[in-house]
Amino acid sequence: MNNKIYKLGDPGGKTSEMILREGSLGPATLDIGTLYRDQSIFTFDPGFMSTASCESKITFIDGEKGVLLYRGYPVEQLAEKSSFIEVAYLLLYGELPSQPQLETFRYSLRRHSMVNEAVLRFFSGFHYDAHPMAMLTAVVGSLSAFYHDSTDIHNPKHREVFAHRIIAKMPTLAAAVYKHGTGQPFVYPKNDLGYCANFLNMLFSVPAEPYRMDPVAAKALDLLFILHADHEQNASTSTVRLAGSSGTNPYAAIAAGIACLWGPAHGGANEAVLNMLKEIGDVKNIDKAIARAKDKNSGFRLMGFGHRVYKNYDPRAKIIRATCHQVLEKLGRDDDPTLELALRLEEIALKDEYFIEKKLYPNVDFYSGIIYRALGIPVHMMTVMFAIARTVGWVAHWQEMISDPHMKIGRPRQLYTGAVKREYVDIGGRK
Ligand code: ACO
Repeated sequence: MNNKIYKLGDPGGKTSEMILREGSLGPATLDIGTLYRDQSIFTFDPGFMSTASCESKITFIDGEKGVLLYRGYPVEQLAEKSSFIEVAYLLLYGELPSQPQLETFRYSLRRHSMVNEAVLRFFSGFHYDAHPMAMLTAVVGSLSAFYHDSTDIHNPKHREVFAHRIIAKMPTLAAAVYKHGTGQPFVYPKNDLGYCANFLNMLFSVPAEPYRMDPVAAKALDLLFILHADHEQNASTSTVRLAGSSGTNPYAAIAAGIACLWGPAHGGANEAVLNMLKEIGDVKNIDKAIARAKDKNSGFRLMGFGHRVYKNYDPRAKIIRATCHQVLEKLGRDDDPTLELALRLEEIALKDEYFIEKKLYPNVDFYSGIIYRALGIPVHMMTVMFAIARTVGWVAHWQEMISDPHMKIGRPRQLYTGAVKREYVDIGGRK
């Protein structure tokens, strides 16, 4: 294939040739890697509006059409036919597993589900009302103080052990975060249970009485985890890549991703959506909420609406919306008025000129919180749920980056607009 070449340079000066690189899907990408060397100029793109930060084979999004593919497979098909563990394998290894491969993967995850007792002791340092994301960031970061025999990032076997370990331990740590907040004892993993059932057991069982596992809850959780597993170069994944590009300890890189996910513009939105719906309270207050969201001076946005990439209905939101009623009904929670409120809010917003013109549609977080709440998961734990699932994507991207022989440390440039060089003034001589 002949790649298109763009040329840039002053007449009489050096000309830079920039190749327009074609991917397998999506817009072509102008390779400007030699621009600074040849022209002494940088490009300026705050928020990465038009900048591809890396080459990747993992996930593809067409935001205009509302398409999401994991390793080429439509997320709708995976949501309907696959399982979170199978999707995790697909994202990590690039192909759907054979039955023996899947069994070996599951076995490995089971073998790594416990955490060192010393990690559990860290929790005693947290106040009982610490935010779960604060605790999760810290305890995942603390894993970097362990496993020194298997964190040589240049060793593919070590990388694989790390990948399995962190995916296996996330539910255990997330459940410990919850238990610390409730004051209940930690519950150890039960390896005869599946990934999601085991997590629910660690969350909700107590030593005083048997816990009745609802398979509908485990299935609903599995679906939400599939939908949250990866989303190409989003803020937290880019954070993991950037942190990891320095060659840092991989657990520290994942902790950086968790810290980024926490923000309300990213993973924290599911928590913010439920808080917003609670504040709106009733269908009769929706118009007022919409008017506030349109008023730039109000500082209020319709949480769970809008997305940097999707300028169409987020395909994940479509799946969750369709499943919501069904799951709530099966769990006996179909009396939850929040769903009706959310549906009505969506209906009104989608007919509003402001939202139509700005192409603001519900994103994955608009409905996910409603299902999480029906599963008994409190609002402040919802971003933790997201983090468990997204760990798979973070690890897949970290692996892809580290195994690339051309990997470079990520080091953005800047447009400096500060003071020009000036002389130090002694304190007595300052105005
Ligand atoms: N409510 C009201 N107005 C909105 C909203 C919203 N939820 N989202 C965007 N807008 C408006 C902005 O005010 C802006 O208007 P302007 O062009 O007149 O200035 C325009 O739409 C574009 O918005 P930006 O913030 O520039 O778009 P960006 O791509 O930077 O932001 C984001 C995307 C952060 C997701 C934004 O839509 C938002 O804040 N949504 C609410 C939070 C949320 O749901 N986040 C979850 C995202 S999904 C995820 O991370 C899993």
